[in-house]
Amino acid sequence: MTTRRTRIAGTGHYVPDRVVTNDELEAVMDTSDEWIRERTGIRERRFTDSETTCTDLGVAAARRALDEAGWSEKDVQFIIFATLSPDMYFPGNGVLLQSKLGLPGIGALDVRNQCTGFLYGLSAADAYIRTGMYDRILLVGSERHSVGLRMDDRGRDTAVLFGDGAGAVCVEVTDGVDGSFIIRHHLHADGRYADELCIRSPGAGTRPWLTREMVDDGSSHPYMNGREVFRNAVKRFPEVILEALESEGYTPENVDAVIPHQANQRITDAVAKRLGLPPEKVISNIEYYGNTTAASIPIALSEVVKAGTVKRGSLVCLAAFGSGFTWASSLLRY
Ligand code: ACO
Repeated sequence: MTTRRTRIAGTGHYVPDRVVTNDELEAVMDTSDEWIRERTGIRERRFTDSETTCTDLGVAAARRALDEAGWSEKDVQFIIFATLSPDMYFPGNGVLLQSKLGLPGIGALDVRNQCTGFLYGLSAADAYIRTGMYDRILLVGSERHSVGLRMDDRGRDTAVLFGDGAGAVCVEVTDGVDGSFIIRHHLHADGRYADELCIRSPGAGTRPWLTREMVDDGSSHPYMNGREVFRNAVKRFPEVILEALESEGYTPENVDAVIPHQANQRITDAVAKRLGLPPEKVISNIEYYGNTTAASIPIALSEVVKAGTVKRGSLVCLAAFGSGFTWASSLLRY
C-alpha cells in the first residue's frame, strides 16, 4: 500500500419507533405546531421507550453499519463514541458499547463535543488510521435527549428541538485508488461561548455538584441562548464549509452533497443560500427527527447512502456547529 488513507466502509442508523408529533408537545407545554414548524422546520421527532439507553441506540446503529461494511464485530479494533447524553456520568458510553458488542480488551474513546462530536470523532479515527495505529475503527454518534428535556412551559425553548437516535460508521484503511477516501478536517472552538448552550449541573465546578435547588431551578436541563447560537451558526457553517472546499481548490459547485448537523431548517436554508447551492444538495431530515446532536450527521449520511443520493466517489462535505461553541467540517470522497 503506497499512501495510508481512510474511507468510510459502511454506514448505519437507528431511531426509536415512537414518533412524537408537535401536537403531542402542545398538550404538555405552551407551544404550537405552527410555531415549531415555522421557527425550526421540525414536524416530529423520535423518543425512546423507558428501557432503551443511548448506548442501546448506538449498538443498533453500529450493527447496521457493520453489516453494510461487511465487517463482523471481531473486525473492530477501536471504538469512538460521541454523545452528550451518556448513560452514566462516568464511565462513558464507549466501554458500554464495547461490552454490548462483546469486544473486551479493545480501546474505547468518548468524545464530548456535542453537535460536532461526530466530526471530531471522525478526525480522530482518520488520524489513528493514517498513522498506522489501527486499520478498522467503529465510530458512533448517539443521543437519548428525551430523558433530559424539561417537558413543561419553562423548557419549551429547548424541548421542542431535540430527538433521540443514533448513527454509526465503519472507518477503514485504504490506498484510495478507487476514489473513495477522507480528504481533510477542519476543527474549531471558542470556549468564550461555553455558557450560551450547556447543561450546568451536575458538574464538579460547584460544591456540592448537585442539589435539590439545581434540579428545581432548571440547571440540570439544557440552557440555550437560541438567538446567540443562531447568529453564530449561520456565520460558522458557511465559513467552515468554504474553508474545507477552498483548501482543496474546490468551489461549492463541485460538491455533490453538503450534510450539515441538523439544528434548525432556517440555519440549513441560510447555509444553502450563502453557498449558492440548490436545496437538494444540502441534506435535511430535521423535519422527521429534530436535532439529534452527535447522531444527526451519521443518521443523515446513512440515509443518503441508502437512498443512493451519495454514491462511491461523491464529493461530500460534512459540517457542524454547536455547544462550546465548536464548529467543524470533514471533506471526503464517499
Ligand atoms: N413555542 C412557542 N413559543 C416559544 C417557544 C416554543 N417552543 N420557545 C420560545 N418561544 C417564544 C419565546 O419565549 C419568545 O417569546 P417573546 O417574544 O414573547 O419573548 C418568542 O417565542 C421568540 O423567541 P426567540 O428565541 O426569539 O425565537 P427564535 O426565532 O430565535 O427561534 C430557536 C428560537 C428556534 C431556538 C432559534 O433561536 C434557534 O434555532 N437557535 C439555534 C438552535 C441551535 O442551532 N442549536 C444548536 C444545536 S444545540 C445542540 O445540538 C446541543
